[in-house]
Amino acid sequence: MLSAREVMLVSKIIPVISVDSVEESLRLCEALVLGGVNIFEITLRTACAIDAINAVAREFPNAVTGAGTVLNAEQFKMVENAGATFAISPGLTQELASYKNSIPLLPGVATASEIMQGLAYGYDAFKLFPANIVGGIGALKAFGAPFKDVVFCPTGGINAANAREYLALENVLCIGGSWIVPNDLIKEGNFKEITTITKEALAALKS
Ligand code: 3PG
Repeated sequence: MLSAREVMLVSKIIPVISVDSVEESLRLCEALVLGGVNIFEITLRTACAIDAINAVAREFPNAVTGAGTVLNAEQFKMVENAGATFAISPGLTQELASYKNSIPLLPGVATASEIMQGLAYGYDAFKLFPANIVGGIGALKAFGAPFKDVVFCPTGGINAANAREYLALENVLCIGGSWIVPNDLIKEGNFKEITTITKEALAALKS
């Protein structure tokens, strides 16, 4: 089992995925792998999400398939059973924290108090959400002083223009977002363009 930090080190970018069919999820994840991203956060925002996690986890055994928008223990159990290797939630509840999970959870935080609550539950790696709204780069810099051993995956409002600045921060291991998987391209079936965007995004982070 990967730890939360190991999950965060798989790729600089965790794509936040919302799909309307299993077929769409397979084509999308193939496009991401071709573009160089081998980690997926498939969110529980659509009816097919659990089936999509199951299919993607089986079809891409060398990639890391996770679940997003995991809001309660029942959903946590469902994504584990579907084959997810990590879970992400927009926040943290007592119910989620006390669930006897077999895969790591990256809980969402937005404030110092939420980080402190997460630390008290034993978490030291978080999603900052919604990153751009709750203070973005400035908040992450400020959190670095009192919470020096805490790491983040900022998500929400990340794009090609600000990705580098986020990743330059010491306490940011990776960034999450949907900008490399635009919904209009998914709906058009233009997966080739998604591969191109993914390659460009990774190249921009390296140069
Ligand atoms: C999430 O749930 O993590 C966000 O909806 C992703 O945010 P973005 O669409 O602004 O990248």
